[in-house]
Amino acid sequence: MTTEQARKTAETLGYLTGFGNEHSSEAVPGALPDGRNSPQRAPLGLYAEQLSGSAFTEPRAHNRRSWLYRIRPSAAHPPYTRIDSGTLRGTPFTETVPDPNRLRWNPLPEPAPGTDWLAGLWTLGGNGDAAQRTGMAVHLYHANASMKRVFGDSDGELLIVPERGGLLLRTELGLLAVRPGEIALIPRGVRFRVELLDETARGYVCENHGAPFQLPDLGPIGANGLANARDFRAPVAAYEDVEGPVEVVNKYCGNLWSATYSHSPLDVVAWHGNHTPYVYDLSRFNVIGTISYDHPDPSIFTVLTAPTDTPGLAGVDFVVFAPRWLVGEDTFRPPYFHRNVMSEYMGLIEGAYDAKAAGKGGFVPGGGSLHNMMSAHGPDRETFDKASAAELRPQKIDDGLAFMFETRWPIVPTPQAAEADHLQKGYDDVWQGLERHFRP
Ligand SMILES: [Fe+2]
Repeated sequence: MTTEQARKTAETLGYLTGFGNEHSSEAVPGALPDGRNSPQRAPLGLYAEQLSGSAFTEPRAHNRRSWLYRIRPSAAHPPYTRIDSGTLRGTPFTETVPDPNRLRWNPLPEPAPGTDWLAGLWTLGGNGDAAQRTGMAVHLYHANASMKRVFGDSDGELLIVPERGGLLLRTELGLLAVRPGEIALIPRGVRFRVELLDETARGYVCENHGAPFQLPDLGPIGANGLANARDFRAPVAAYEDVEGPVEVVNKYCGNLWSATYSHSPLDVVAWHGNHTPYVYDLSRFNVIGTISYDHPDPSIFTVLTAPTDTPGLAGVDFVVFAPRWLVGEDTFRPPYFHRNVMSEYMGLIEGAYDAKAAGKGGFVPGGGSLHNMMSAHGPDRETFDKASAAELRPQKIDDGLAFMFETRWPIVPTPQAAEADHLQKGYDDVWQGLERHFRP
């Protein structure tokens, strides 16, 4: 099935809606056993296999696992051998000295011809320890070829944020089409292949080594709002029955390992469970903000949060700055100046962001900024002047889609990020000229 056929198939078959709940799907009628997870003989001559995303004994609300009914069990593979990681890096991020400076990058340069999504991954930085299942990494990608190989990440789940070009994700659990403005979530260990729906593809990836992303609690907001569970779409089962050599790459404790299987591992004919990939359309995010005064903390824009053992202190949050109305009275409406104990990586999917002037050399789609623990940041001079003098009528912000990966630990840049040609020189200058206005 070609990429285009697979995209059509994904959209024709539709998706299973809802986040975190038990789904089930079979590509061939009768492939799912009735009432048992591992009957003496699974239907249709399939093998039953459990894929665990949490410890067996974690509380029910956090327990993640799926049962897969496949042509061959995953155990049937030859040894893995180390391969070069290219521009992909893993924990520990200790090759550079943590830097208190504010950093901003332009988009990644053009990839060499034939660069697939996996080869196109370029690690900006990260924190934590994949072996301890803590922390996160920020990767960007720029690809111009579809993958022929299959990839699985033992180190964590992958939150994919396309910025340019659609992706067709053929996962063990089925097909997902994801385009700029949507995000995809691939759980830890789920194997997949990325095929391009356009000439090139560019975007961002948050690799989450810790507890899986979940929807944030809503507290006094109530039962609805922010990202609604029903807007997350899991794939229906779709398998490939391919005999012959298939390269499978595994990211394991920071390094890439490869094995050549005798068959495609995307051979799951049916499955049930809650350890599933998702796609989510960010335009479905129900933005909540002030209707009186003051700019709320950006946590109000949290789409997904990966909790740690300390309540409210996320390993990483995924936050989106989506189109919304600003109506605050007597309020400086753009993001305020601040210093934050959390560390913030920001990217831009389209348009402009309301705290920074757009344009070449600024904060541009495909670029990103890093404001690490306690580093001072906020609006630039131009934004400050405009917002301080603006007439405060209701105003729609609808010219951009920005996001943030916000983590409890500083993000330590990789050497390739610290020394990149596309690291902007003189980012500090955006805060130059913030003149003294004090009149005692
Ligand atoms: Fe910030």
